[in-house]
Amino acid sequence: MNHFTYRQGELFAENIPVADLAARHGTPLYIYSAATLRRHFEAFDSAFDGLPHLTCYSVKANSNLCVLGLLAECGAGMDIVSGGELHRALSAGVDPQKIVYSGVGKRPAEIEQALATGILMFNVESMGELDRISAIASRMGKTAHIALRINPDVDPKTHPYISTGMKKNKFGLDMDNSLRAYERAMDLPGIEPVGIDCHIGSQLTSIEPFLEALDKIVSFGDKLMARGVPLRYLDLGGGLGITYNEEEPPHPAQFGEALSAALENHPMTLILEPGRVIVGNAGILVTEATYTKSTPSKDFVIVDAAMNDLVRPALYDSYHAIGEVKKHGRPEKNVDVVGPICESSDFLARGRELPEIEPGELLAVFSAGAYGFTMSSNYNSRPRAAEILVDGDVAVVARKRETYEDLIALERDCIE
Ligand code: LLP
Repeated sequence: MNHFTYRQGELFAENIPVADLAARHGTPLYIYSAATLRRHFEAFDSAFDGLPHLTCYSVKANSNLCVLGLLAECGAGMDIVSGGELHRALSAGVDPQKIVYSGVGKRPAEIEQALATGILMFNVESMGELDRISAIASRMGKTAHIALRINPDVDPKTHPYISTGMKKNKFGLDMDNSLRAYERAMDLPGIEPVGIDCHIGSQLTSIEPFLEALDKIVSFGDKLMARGVPLRYLDLGGGLGITYNEEEPPHPAQFGEALSAALENHPMTLILEPGRVIVGNAGILVTEATYTKSTPSKDFVIVDAAMNDLVRPALYDSYHAIGEVKKHGRPEKNVDVVGPICESSDFLARGRELPEIEPGELLAVFSAGAYGFTMSSNYNSRPRAAEILVDGDVAVVARKRETYEDLIALERDCIE
């Protein structure tokens, strides 16, 4: 459920007409719904009420400060993967003791920054990283609480680019190496192993792969505890999918029920790192049609949003529903919705049945709240879109539209 709904043929973001926001703030424009964010967080988090747990929202999905602040207010912890994300989480007022740090390539300065902050746990992905954290923590006189990220070799049955828990992926440690790594971690100075972690992929539409991974992690965890590793946290990562088109992912309540059953009587605190399921359907991208163009083989709607604003269709061939902001009731036509960027991969939809669109009309690209703005770029020297957060009748500019000056602000003019 989300709060982008049509009233008499006109799209609203909560109580505000989307067309009004576009008129006021321009396009392309990201709009997020606060009520949807709260609802999604609460639906997810409460699904685990029966278990000791911590929901660490995955910052990479949507890292706008207003979004992070709203989720922190709801009680969310955060899953971060960089010093930049740590900075954002802290700036949004997140309790450092609710922050877990994942990622295969943590740099020394980032490790130092996280240790100085006093985060809850590092999810460590290699022996080299373990040794490095130990060295830095010892030098700083700190103790790093760590989990090892296990690669359970489970097929999440999702797009190959976002599968992360298979043998061939760069993530985590395989079971054999993990055992050695835990033994090593027990001896290393400045390291205290407190958890076990995995994340098998993103946009999963069934529970089975999660349960398969959980089963492997739990039995491995039991083995570790029997050997005296004092595990307190079991982090199962993120990955629960959403409906973009016709997918039917499990509801968070079903997900919670299944995991709770599997973890009944288990002593560890469950950590979850949801991203997409919280923010994906809480955001839309609004764009204006600039031209329409018919060629002998195809009809195009050329819009002012492009792959630099929303790269998912170009990168993963992802489907995003597209609809008119004001329904005109015209007959449908099969079109490609494309941006102005000089690449044929610059499309938002291909071969889509849409009512005939005229230049100047607005379209909404749905399910754009996750991995939309965060993956945007300045390609073709396009200033990045503004982001608006709507809460009931109120809209705030959560991020200003970039200007041409912003585009060149960090560069120097090398011409004498
Ligand atoms: N935890 C870790 C360690 C992750 O790597 C990720 C996502 C998450 C949690 C959150 O996963 P989620 O609940 O959002 O599925 N750009 C791609 C998605 C990449 C996901 C990367 N890792 C897309 O647009 O589909």
